[in-house]
Amino acid sequence: MALPPTVDWQGDAATGALVIIDQTLLPGELHLLKITSLDVAIDAIQRLAVRGAPAIGVAGAYACVLALRQGLGDAGLDQLADARPTAVNLRWAVEKVRAACSGDAAGALKIARAIHDSDIDTCRRIGGYGAALIKPGMGLLTHCNAGALATAGMGTALAPMYVAHRQGVKFHVFADETRPLLQGARLTAFELAESGIDVTVIGDGMAAGVMRAGKVQLVITGADRIARNGDVANKIGTYSVAVNAQHHRVPFYVAAPRSTFDAACPTGAHIPIEERRESELREYGQAQLVPARAKVFNPAFDVTPAELIAGLITEDGIFTPAQVAAWLDRGGS
Ligand code: MRU
Repeated sequence: MALPPTVDWQGDAATGALVIIDQTLLPGELHLLKITSLDVAIDAIQRLAVRGAPAIGVAGAYACVLALRQGLGDAGLDQLADARPTAVNLRWAVEKVRAACSGDAAGALKIARAIHDSDIDTCRRIGGYGAALIKPGMGLLTHCNAGALATAGMGTALAPMYVAHRQGVKFHVFADETRPLLQGARLTAFELAESGIDVTVIGDGMAAGVMRAGKVQLVITGADRIARNGDVANKIGTYSVAVNAQHHRVPFYVAAPRSTFDAACPTGAHIPIEERRESELREYGQAQLVPARAKVFNPAFDVTPAELIAGLITEDGIFTPAQVAAWLDRGGS
C-alpha cells in the first residue's frame, strides 16, 4: 500500500490546510487530519499525531502559515516553536520561516514548501550514504520510528534500509517496540512491512539478548538533537541500545539531517529533555498498568554519549562524532 504523505499542505496560503497522517491511530486506521488553525496544529504536534524530528519541522513550518494568517504574529510563532522542546528541527524550521517571510503568510508558505522539498532530498541522500553500511545477510536493529512517518521523505534511520532493499540486498530488521507509545511496534514495523522489508518486533528489554545471540550486526537510530560534540538525544531507550551494542561489539550509527544538529549546543548535558504526562506509562487504553500509589517518571528522550557512536549518517556523508564540530563550522556541508 502506498501511504499518503506524512505531512503536506493543500491549497494556498489564505485558505489552505496543513494535512497530516494521524499517527496516533496507526497501524489500525489510516486517517488524514486537515488542520486550519494554530492551536489544532500545536495540539497535533504535542499529542504525537505528527511526530519525528524532521516531520515536526516540516509541520511546524506549515503551521507558521496558519499562525500568520490568523494574525498571531511572533507570539504565535514562539508558542509553536516551544511545542516540543527536544526535537530541535521544530524551532529551526519556525525560525527559518520567521526570518525569511516578514510576517506574510504567502511568503511563509513559500519557505515551508522549500523546507519540505529539502527534507525529501536530504532523506534520499542519507539513504544513499547509509545503504553502503548494509551488507547481505545482516541483522539490523532500530529504535522508535525514524522512517517515512517521521520525515517528509523516506526517513533517516530507515532510509538506508529502503535504499539497500531497492538495491536487492537481503537483510533483516529488529524493531524495538519502544515503550511507552510504541512507535517501533506501531509505526516502524508498519512502514517496513508495507514496503516488503523483513521486520520483527521485539520488546525493548530483549535487544541485549538478541545481540548476544549474534542476530544483530548493525544498529541505526534517528535523533532529535545532536550537540557539537556528537552526543545524541533520541527516543528514551536509545542510550541502553547503544550501551548494549558496544558491549556486543555491534556498530551503533545515528542517521540525521543537518537540521537536527544544534551548533549552539556544546554537549548532550545542555539538551532539554521533554518530560511527558504520567498517564502514558500508567495506562494503556482503558487498562491501568501502574498502581495509583506508585510514582512514575516519563522522560521522552535520553542522551547517548558520543563515545558510543560509530558514525553519524548525514546528507553530506558519514562523520565520526569528533568530526561534527568542524562540519558545523564549515556551514554543514
Ligand atoms: O516522540 P517522537 O515519536 O517524536 O520521537 C521520535 C524519535 O525519537 C525519532 O527517533 C527522531 O525524532 C528521529 S525521526 C527521523
